[in-house]
Order: sequence, then structure tokens, then C-alpha cells
Amino acid sequence: KKLIIINGPNLNLLGKRETNIYGDLSFTEFFESITDKYPNVKLEHYQSNIEGELIDKIQDVGFSYDGIILNAAAYTHTSIGIGDAVKAIETPVIEVHISNTFSREEFRHQSYISTNAQGVILGFGLQSYELAIQSFL
Ligand code: DQA
Repeated sequence: KKLIIINGPNLNLLGKRETNIYGDLSFTEFFESITDKYPNVKLEHYQSNIEGELIDKIQDVGFSYDGIILNAAAYTHTSIGIGDAVKAIETPVIEVHISNTFSREEFRHQSYISTNAQGVILGFGLQSYELAIQSFL
């Protein structure tokens, strides 16, 4: 299986950013552990702070990969463009969030991704990503 984790804005700061919410592990450290744990999965990772770059990546992989694990971060709540990209492609998308967005501010309750996602996993910390990987196996 060929899967990609696509991370949106500020997720490059994992391990440094609001560690009470997002934990103190960097994504690089987490990604290493997860690639070791699932050696049969061709797992890639892409991160951008730029909305259009995330859309370009979704389009690039969206007709050939087996699955996309998408944490669009703050763009989840604002980006019709990313939502449309998820709708336009053939590869199934699992929407992921580290935190339970429903237990946080009202503006995090809205998602432009969910309606076109195959599923949504949130609130399990970085383990949310792993649960999404397992869903594709
Ligand atoms: C997040 C939740 C978003 O509301 C927030 O803007 C993020 C991270 C999460 O993984 O919990 O940057 O997507």
C-alpha cells in the first residue's frame, strides 16, 4: 500500500508548539517510529504552511496513491479549496486531528474536509495518524 500523510500549517512545529495540546514529540521522531512499525507500507510525509501547496500535493497523489491521511490543521476550518481538492480526487482521504477539535473553540467544530472524507479520526494525539494507517491495511 502506498500512503501519504499530508500535514498543514504549523504542524512542522510539533513537539515545540502548545505541547499541552499536541504533545512533545516532533513529527520527524513520530514518523520514524511509524515507518519502522509498518515496514510493508510505503509511507510518505509532506508538510506545508501554504494552502495552494497542499492543494497541489493532494492533486499530485490523488489519482495514484492508495490513501491520503490529511491533517489540514487550521485550513480544515477555512479552506473550501482544500475541501474541493479532496472531492476532486479518486484516492480516499482520512481526515485526522491530533486534538479533539469538538472539545475546543467553536470555530474548530466546522470542517470543510469531513463531507468528502472516507472517515475522520480525532482526539487520540499522534496515535490518530496510526489509527488512520491501520484503516487502510
Ligand atoms: C489540529 C486542530 C486544528 O484546529 C488546529 O488548527 C491545528 C491542529 C489538530 O491536529 O488537532 O493546527 O488539526
